[in-house]
Formats: sequence, C-alpha cells, structure tokens
Amino acid sequence: MSITQFRTSDPPSVLRAKVTSHTLNEKKAAHKPIVALTAYDYPTARLVDEAGVDIVLVGDSLAMVVLGYDTTIPVTVEEMLHHTRAVRRAVRRAMLVADMPFGSYQASVEEGVRNASRFLKEAGAEAVKIEGRRIELVEQMSAAGIPVMAHLGLTPQSVHKMGGYRVQGKSLNAIHGLLDDALALEAAGAFSLVLEGIPREVAQRIASSLKIPAIGIGAGPDCDGQILVLHDLLNLTFAPPAKFVRRYGDAAALIATAVESYRRDVEERSFPSNEESYHLTKEMLAALEAEESTPTRKAW
Ligand code: KIV
Repeated sequence: MSITQFRTSDPPSVLRAKVTSHTLNEKKAAHKPIVALTAYDYPTARLVDEAGVDIVLVGDSLAMVVLGYDTTIPVTVEEMLHHTRAVRRAVRRAMLVADMPFGSYQASVEEGVRNASRFLKEAGAEAVKIEGRRIELVEQMSAAGIPVMAHLGLTPQSVHKMGGYRVQGKSLNAIHGLLDDALALEAAGAFSLVLEGIPREVAQRIASSLKIPAIGIGAGPDCDGQILVLHDLLNLTFAPPAKFVRRYGDAAALIATAVESYRRDVEERSFPSNEESYHLTKEMLAALEAEESTPTRKAW
C-alpha cells in the first residue's frame, strides 16, 4: 500500500510534493493556512485530494454523516479501518489522518497504542487523531512512531459528559484549562491540534502559544488552518448547519434532481435509448431472424 505511487492520470495538484508534518510546520511558520477536510470513501477522497487539500481526515463524524447515527459514539474500529482503507486507495498527496473511535483508546494506554498501530499498519493512515487531554497516550504513541493529532474544545465523543454539543472555553477556568491541555499535548509529542467549538479569542491565544499547528473548526479564523466535515460543506447532512459551517455546494439538490430525472425517464421508457443499448451485428441478427422464421423452431 504505497502512498507515493502516482497515477499517470493524476492532475498537477496531486503531483505536488507529498504533505508531511514538516510541510504543516513550514506552513505555520510562513503563516500559510493549512487546509483540511474529512472524507470517508474512495470517490470523495479522490476529489478532495485532487482539489489540493493538505490533510484528509477520516473523521469519526462518519458515524453521523455516512452511517446515520445520532452521535459519533457507536462507530467501531473495524468500521473506521474499512473507511480508512477506501480513502487510502484514493489519497496521494494529502496527509491521511484517521480518527480513533470512542472506546478504542480510553480504557488503557496499551490498548490505545495497539489500536492506533492498526490504523497505520492495516489501513495506511499516516497519523491518528484522539480527543481530550491524554498525555501518557500521546507520549507512548509518539514513542512508538505513531504521529498524533490531538483534539480539544468541543470533543464530540464526550457529548454526554458535556451535556450536548456546546461551545467550550467560555470561563476563565476553562480557558486556562484549554491552554494548559494544549501545551501539555504539544510537549507530549502531538504534531498538531484540532480546536473545535471554542471562542475565536481563545483559539487565537492557543494557536499563537503553540509551535505545532492548531487547526480550527468553529474556532475562528486565527488558527493555523481550518477543517470542515465534507458533508457539511456539500449540504449532505439533512440537518440545519452549525453556525461555523459554510455551504460551498448543494450536493443534496444535485443528487435529488438527477435521481428524479432518472425515475421519470425509466417510467416514460425514454431511458435507455437505442444508442444506450448493445446490438447484434447485422449478420447475427439476420441469422437469428432466419432461425425464428423456420416453422420447426420455437418462438422465444
Ligand atoms: O470526526 C471529525 O470529522 C472531526 C473533525 C470535525 C475535526 O473530528
């Protein structure tokens, strides 16, 4: 499962240098925003990579936007591996990060490291993402050669503990806690940090205090980069968007219109047309018709 083999059909955006953690650090140093997006399957991952994003995250948001669950909690390691493999087959240039699902790293550091290594070994991920302040886990993963993206603020796997999807870091105590967590995760070896659902002013202070890139979602424009859920960006979520989501396209309308047109054409027998059908050669058709006109031969 090589990540450096290019296809002859790869567009110029993909043939640019492979994104690594060094690329991300260089972008932070040069104040160039890092572009990250989720993807969960081969076709969308290919389009996302070819559009030139820096990081493709196989987020556990797939539980909600692809599998239809109400939270991210039910998705399993096997399901995350399955989708990460599909995305791996598509992504050439971007750094591929896999989210570790709820329950795969909370029980013990050993189990966390074991599960994380499966994402690299069995699915071709280049890094894993975990939620919360897990210092020893980040240290052990880093020591094992597993790059870790940390995730603070609104951490969806803790939805029940947080009492819903609420903006975090609104009190002085919470702000100090977030800053302290971020610095501790950086010191433990995390190569980047996702900041989700926190006030812009807090995200700005955290991002500027860190050497590693801070990538925001619902954390304002002062982070070192941004990430969104692909299905939010494309209007494929069947739910009112969060305040921080910007819709860049309407895939729901596109799909609905295309499928309704297909249904109408089939019902009206205008699909498939003669041109969209396979045909016998003239000779074979003549032979068939001659056979059919022979009285001893049964009709079809
Ligand atoms: O699961 C996910 O998609 C995420 C991003 C929103 C950061 O964690």
